[in-house]
Amino acid sequence: MISKKMSDSLNTHMNLELFSAHLYLVMSSCANDLGLKGAANWFFVQYREEMVHFMKFYTYLTDQGVVISLPANKAIPNKYKSLLEMMQKTLAHENLITSCINNLSEQAVQEKDHATQIFLQWFVTEQIEEENNDRDLIAKLKIVGDNGHGILMIDSEMAQRTFVPLAGSPLAV
Ligand code: FEO
Repeated sequence: MISKKMSDSLNTHMNLELFSAHLYLVMSSCANDLGLKGAANWFFVQYREEMVHFMKFYTYLTDQGVVISLPANKAIPNKYKSLLEMMQKTLAHENLITSCINNLSEQAVQEKDHATQIFLQWFVTEQIEEENNDRDLIAKLKIVGDNGHGILMIDSEMAQRTFVPLAGSPLAV
């Protein structure tokens, strides 16, 4: 059985995953406004992935007999000057998520909560991939700088990203 302290921490993080989804949905809209349809696609795929993350926490908590709570979301920023700024904000946000996942994992170890430790392992691995993808794009954007042709090439690359539903995913948004 999961402790109240652990389920409260997981519920708090579940809301952060929902915030992540909304953050990237707004970034998708902002990228579209900048004329970058490929980046808009990339952020929309990221939004869908974050909804899966959110639903993974939702399903885990409800399977543990926990009634979730969803406090009102914080306002979502919607002003960005460039794709580079959006990607830098994305990486900073993912660094925060990684640190939160690590704290949850540490709490699960301290509580000897083996089920939650196993549940969180997927997220530990996922964060490595997310941060790596963000760093790659930031590096490319820094190389091209203000060169419009270079930015459009990166935008074309970002257009290739597709949403891949997870096997057994609780949600295919
Ligand atoms: Fe769900 Fe991007 O971490």
